[in-house]
This record gives sequence, structure tokens and C-alpha cells, in this order.
Amino acid sequence: MGRLVIIEDVEVLKLRLEKALEDNGIIGFDTICNHQVRTLRSNIVFKEALLVIIDLDNQDLDLKVAVETIREHSFQNNIPIMVLSGNSDLTTLNRAIALGCTDFILKPFSNETFIRKVVLNLSKMDPSQIKIGKEARVQHEEEGIHMLKWNTAFEIGVQSIDDDHKKIIEHFEKLYLLMKSGQGHAYYPEFLAFLEDYVDTHFEREEALQREIEYDGYDEHLHLHNEFKLKIKELISAHGTEEATNNDLIRINLFIKDWLIHHILLTDNKIGLFISAKKRSHQAASTD
Ligand SMILES: [Fe+2]
Ligand SMILES: [Fe+2]
Repeated sequence: MGRLVIIEDVEVLKLRLEKALEDNGIIGFDTICNHQVRTLRSNIVFKEALLVIIDLDNQDLDLKVAVETIREHSFQNNIPIMVLSGNSDLTTLNRAIALGCTDFILKPFSNETFIRKVVLNLSKMDPSQIKIGKEARVQHEEEGIHMLKWNTAFEIGVQSIDDDHKKIIEHFEKLYLLMKSGQGHAYYPEFLAFLEDYVDTHFEREEALQREIEYDGYDEHLHLHNEFKLKIKELISAHGTEEATNNDLIRINLFIKDWLIHHILLTDNKIGLFISAKKRSHQAASTD
């Protein structure tokens, strides 16, 4: 049976991650320290690994070496590598993506987020290889609220799409500032209404662009949009007429931040890359 490997030096975090996995019936994991990455032991555990989780805050971590070592020893062709980071600096995350990491979680994160990501990444692998004893139990933990600012790393190079992305980040920032001043509850319904409209207009614009350029990742992207739409619908119908609770605010803050970063950086960004590659091949063809 394949296993999960966690590269974590901080004892407290190591214990917390292991407990979250065990509590959710996810068994079969090894935790190693950063300095063990290039040892015989890690070479053995990487062989069987189905998912590797690396803490970018490990001291003296050389992510390039770690990723290369994992890929060299893993029996899986495209083993998912997830990074944990306390640094929301997009340059750090972009570098991790460029090195071949496939997913990331920003600290602080809830056990719910961690388990959801683990299950999601494992579900992309052969299901017979991993044992998830029962449906992942999730628990919501109250945590600090998160801020997100527009950064050029979010740009995909298509003006109308970048403008839409700026707009949702501005609304997110407004929610954050109002939450900080204790006025987030009143803004919550307006934020939901914005999201409801946004998922129609922005997603449609992005999907139309993908059809126009004959984007090869269209179906997968559409699926992710539809999942997000569904989640927004659920939030709207769960809200009703009651005033939003602190938990509602914290939950939406975490959910939107997480989704925005992942979707724009990992998924929307690929559209920009596709367009650039297409332009390059047209240019090359016209100079031939
Ligand atoms: Fe998208
Ligand atoms: Fe988008």
C-alpha cells in the first residue's frame, strides 16, 4: 500500500498533522526531518509514497533538492507534492510551483483544510493504493482572519480577466477590513450577493475565452468553476435571513482566500501560459 510522507522539523506541527491524519482514518504515513531527505531511509519511503507534504519553513530546506530527490525515487510518475508555508509572499509560492510542487497550504491552517487537501490530492492517485478508513471527519477551528492583497504574481496577462480578479480581491480585502473593525456581519450578505454575480459573469468570461482559444484544459477548469458555484449556492441558502455569525465570517474568509490563491495561481494562470505558448508557436511558424 502506498503511503504519505511528511517532511516536517517542528515537533508540535508534526504531532498535530499526524493526529489529524489518524483522527480522520488516514493511515499509512511517515514523517521525516529535513536533514533526512537525502538519506537511505527517505529514499525508501519516497519509493512507496503517494503524496509528499513539505514544510517550506523547515530550516535549511533546499526545496529544489527535495523535489528532485522525491521524483527520482518515487515509483509514481507524477507524485503530488504539497507545500506548507507561513509565508504568503507569492514569490515563494510561485517558486514552489515552478519547481514542481502541485499544491500548497498557507499557515495558519485548520485541520479541516489540511485533511480536505490531503484527501483531494490522494483522490487523484490510484484509490486502491491508499487506505482512508472512514469518510474524513472535518472539524472547524477558529483561527485568525486572513488578508490578501493584489499582487502582480496574480496577473495572467489578459486584461479583462486580471481586472475581474482584482475586483474579487478588492471585495475580499473589504470584507477583511470590516471584519477587523467588527462590521463584517452587516457586509456578509452583500459579499455573498457579489460572489453570486461574480461566479456568473467572471466564470462565463473566462470560459468563453477558453473556448475561443481552444484551451486544452477547458473541461477540468469548467468542473472547478462549477464546484465553486455550488459552494457559493450552498453558502447563500445556508445563510437565510439571520445575521451572519463570527463562524460564518471566519469560514468564508478562509474559504475565499484559499480558493482565490489556488484557483488564480494554479488554474487561471495556466490559461495565460497556454496563450503565450500559442503565440510563440505562431511566431515560430510565421518565421519559418
Ligand atoms: Fe478560473
Ligand atoms: Fe478566474
